[in-house]
Amino acid sequence: MDRLADGPLPVQIGPGAQATRPQVLDAVSGAAAAVTLLTDSVDSEFFDSAGPQLKVVANLAVGFDNVDLAEAATRSVIVTNTPDVLTESTADLTIGLLLAVERRIVEADAFLRSGAPWRWEPRWMLGRDLGGLQLGIVGYGRIGQAVARRATAFGMNVVALQGKSATAAGVATMELDQLLATSDVVSLHCPLTPQTHHLIGGSELRAMKRGAVLINTSRGPLIDEAALVAALSERRIAGAGLDVFEYEPALTDGLTALPNTVLTPHLGSAGVQTRDAMALLAADNVLAVLAGETPLTQVTAT
Ligand code: GLV
Repeated sequence: MDRLADGPLPVQIGPGAQATRPQVLDAVSGAAAAVTLLTDSVDSEFFDSAGPQLKVVANLAVGFDNVDLAEAATRSVIVTNTPDVLTESTADLTIGLLLAVERRIVEADAFLRSGAPWRWEPRWMLGRDLGGLQLGIVGYGRIGQAVARRATAFGMNVVALQGKSATAAGVATMELDQLLATSDVVSLHCPLTPQTHHLIGGSELRAMKRGAVLINTSRGPLIDEAALVAALSERRIAGAGLDVFEYEPALTDGLTALPNTVLTPHLGSAGVQTRDAMALLAADNVLAVLAGETPLTQVTAT
């Protein structure tokens, strides 16, 4: 059955319509199932508000760093996420940011809109061609691999941080310091965990190749944003494309003033088909748990 036969799910036009924390806590009170957003803290307060009848939390995201899995386990609540369905969409946005930074698309657009006079010139508004650049992928899971496929089609040389999935995929692998020192572009695709928090800080930024570009479509706190603003201001690295932010939705002081950044408001999976697929997967997970079946995409603490 095509459950989208009547057309796509409604598209929210602008931000601001999200429930406040008290509204969320009130809404889950007495519920058997909750569909949560990555902006919801699913913690002991949340579980207390929900009550002991809560059976499932279906997080509308592949990332689940907003969910306290240990607390969920203690309360016998199943947690699910939405992997796979958003892989290609997030990889598309990653390449979009990469092209926008390297080919100065946003800067060029702003220039034209300024009304300043111009004419075609051989050495004006130059960026770097992607072909031949080394792309270092940190986190070679589903999304990292989808980015690699696209980057290879652009003629980039892909290397990945050492790890099980990278080894299994047979891609060239490196330790972080070597990857940072040799890559023209570094793209982050790791989940946020205590181990990956500030994975890229001042010393890692200093270890990057001069003129390199950093892309992040995973989670903001992987980067020490104050250190990134300093590295970009001093032009130790050439630019950054960021879809996620350390203190989301707030941006670290200085970030928006930098001309060498392209910033998008956490839109990695924001394709209409992808968001529909995420919503359907979350709903299927809820229905499965409520029917006493195994959900399609359960997450567990490792
Ligand atoms: C988005 O960031 C997600 O985790 O799905």
